[in-house]
Amino acid sequence: MLPAVLDDAQALVLASSGARRQRALRAQAGAYVAASKLASKAGDGQLAWLAADRAATAAGLADATALSAVAAYQAACALLRLPGRLSDAETIAVAAAADIGPTATGDDADLLSARGSLLLLAALVAARRNDAQAARRYLTEAASAAEQLGRDDNRLWTAFGPTNVVIHEISVAVTLGQPDEAAKTRRSSRLTMDAYSRTTGQVLYLVVCAAPPARRIGELVELTQRLGWTVCIIATPQAAEWVDVDGLAHQTGYPVRSTYKHPDDPDVLPPADAIAVAPATFNTINKWAAGISDTFALGILNEALGLGLPIVVSPYAKPPLAAHAAFARSLQFLRDSGVTLTATEAIRPDRPDEPFRWSAVTHALPG
Ligand SMILES: Cc1cc2nc3c(=O)[nH]c(=O)nc-3n(C[C@H](O)[C@H](O)[C@H](O)COP(=O)(O)O)c2cc1C
Repeated sequence: MLPAVLDDAQALVLASSGARRQRALRAQAGAYVAASKLASKAGDGQLAWLAADRAATAAGLADATALSAVAAYQAACALLRLPGRLSDAETIAVAAAADIGPTATGDDADLLSARGSLLLLAALVAARRNDAQAARRYLTEAASAAEQLGRDDNRLWTAFGPTNVVIHEISVAVTLGQPDEAAKTRRSSRLTMDAYSRTTGQVLYLVVCAAPPARRIGELVELTQRLGWTVCIIATPQAAEWVDVDGLAHQTGYPVRSTYKHPDDPDVLPPADAIAVAPATFNTINKWAAGISDTFALGILNEALGLGLPIVVSPYAKPPLAAHAAFARSLQFLRDSGVTLTATEAIRPDRPDEPFRWSAVTHALPG
């Protein structure tokens, strides 16, 4: 369909003159911006660049400043798809934002949105270059544009607004290896769960209890991330003392939660699509089956049962504990409630120097 639209736009430009021609050129620029977006998403940087260049030509002929800036944005995105063009992408984005200048007023939402989205892109690229100072400067300027705009909008397909600035602040902090900054931004932001769910794939809450495999839980995080899950770690208070909380926050991009939040604090985690409990201790399994919610992890697990979320549990308890009658009773209750259980200690390796058998968990996750 897009090639036909591009042909029609070209025919319209050729057939018209005066003000009509200006309008036709703007439509043509918009069609090429769409083509560039599509090519970029499909991973074809060259084609995306070509389409962005044509968008820029049409926007220039139409004397449409905001459209020219959006074409430059697409050109920068295209360059990000091409090897070794990172700093060229930043140069284009910064130059196009400077062309508009900070004088854009709240009256011109198109210009503010184009300038803001260029600055956000520049911030991401600067963070990738590990230039924290430049990234923060661009973010500050983008935040000021968003403030002037005063709302979340989608002018000229930019999706620019205060929420998008917060999302980029988090991305920049994570890219720069500053998970505390990211968590702080999330806590202080007005970012809604809705916005989170738009930016992530399927979300897996990984509940970690205080048994030896917890010390290597980063391995399971990596495996589940490779399967496409966005992973959030919820540790029992005891397990939180055994794991590298900062390292896991960096790895997942989300703070490790182990305590209930203050009633006035916003939720910092996106809603879960599935839950895995690994390792699941004797203690947590028995308390869960009894409906006790005295840790944040148990609160999440009890809620998840009520919500009917897919849950995979990998119990980890030595034979004397596993032989306890309460344990068998609890496991049966969880099984009857629809929970998928691996064998007890299924993740324990044959020899202590071998890795845990995390595949017992990943194989049981919903496809
Ligand atoms: C070194 C060590 C190893 C432990 N291993 C296990 C274990 O494999 N399985 C288990 O159920 N509990 C194990 N425990 C006991 C739990 O850590 C303990 O019951 C704790 O209260 C569990 O808390 P949680 O269920 O809130 O994580 C171990 C404790 C220590 C100190």
